[in-house]
Amino acid sequence: MTTFPSSRLSRRGVVQLGGVSVGAAALAIGSNRFAARAQDATPDATPAGTPVAGGSASAAILASYPYALPDLPYAYDALEPVTSTTTQELHHDGLHANYVTTLNAALEQVPDAQGFTLEDLVLNLAIVPEDDFTAANGVVKPRRAVVRTNAGGHYNHSVWWDTMSADGGGEPEGPLADAIMAAFGDFATFQEEMKLAVLGNTGSGWTWLITDDAGAVSITATPAQDNPLITGEGYPVFGIDNWEHAYLLDYTTATGRGEYVDAWWEIANWTFIGGRYEAHLGQ
Ligand SMILES: [Fe+2]
Repeated sequence: MTTFPSSRLSRRGVVQLGGVSVGAAALAIGSNRFAARAQDATPDATPAGTPVAGGSASAAILASYPYALPDLPYAYDALEPVTSTTTQELHHDGLHANYVTTLNAALEQVPDAQGFTLEDLVLNLAIVPEDDFTAANGVVKPRRAVVRTNAGGHYNHSVWWDTMSADGGGEPEGPLADAIMAAFGDFATFQEEMKLAVLGNTGSGWTWLITDDAGAVSITATPAQDNPLITGEGYPVFGIDNWEHAYLLDYTTATGRGEYVDAWWEIANWTFIGGRYEAHLGQ
C-alpha cells in the first residue's frame, strides 16, 4: 500500500504530506461538489504559485466507497500558462467529478465491492458483476466496464493533480533519477521517449512511467482510462494525460499534443513523483 512519509517528500520546505489520511477533510466532499467548486473557484482559491499540501489529491486512492472528489492541491490558475484555468476547471470540476459520480452509482448495488480502496478496486475489477448498468444519460453498458472506466478515471486523475505543481520543473533526484538513468541513459532521452509515446498513443489515453517491484522503470501507454494497475503492466509512477480535454483548449495547432508535452515538464512535481516511486518500493 502506498504511503508517503513526510520526510521523503519535503523539498525547499514546499511539500509537506504528513501522513496521508483517508479520512482527511479534503476527502469529505459531498455530491454537490461541482456546484460548490464553481462558486469558490476564484475568490477562495489559493494564490498561484503558493504550494499547498502536495500529495493531498492522491490520498483519494486510499479511500473506499462512496468515493469523493479530492480538492485540487493548488489554485485553478496555479499552472498557467502551461495549463489554463479553464482547462483545470473543466478537467477537475466536470470530468473528474463525473468519474466519481458514475463510479458511485455503478457500485451502489454492489456491496461486495464497496469495501475496497480505490487502488484495490482497480486491481480487483473482477469483483464487479457484468450485468447491465444504466447511466444517468440512459446509456446501458456492462457494469464492470463502467466501473473500469470510472474507477480508472478517478484513480488516474487523483494522482495526476499531485504530479503537477507551480513550483515544479527541473529533474528528479535520488532513487528515481537513478532508475531513469539506468533505463534511458539520461533525462533528456527519457523525456523524448515519453513524448514519442504520447504522440504514438493516438486517441484518448495515458502514457506512463511504470516501475516493477525491483525499481526498474519503463514507459507504457494505455487506452481510455485504463492504467498499468488495471492492465497488470506495473506500478504507475506518474502518467501524462493524453486526452484532448487535458490540452486542446491550450494547444490548438496540429502539433499541439507535442507542445503540451514539452511544456508539461515545466510543472512536473518531481518531489511528489519521486516520493511515490520510493514509497511503492518501501524505501
Ligand atoms: Fe483527463
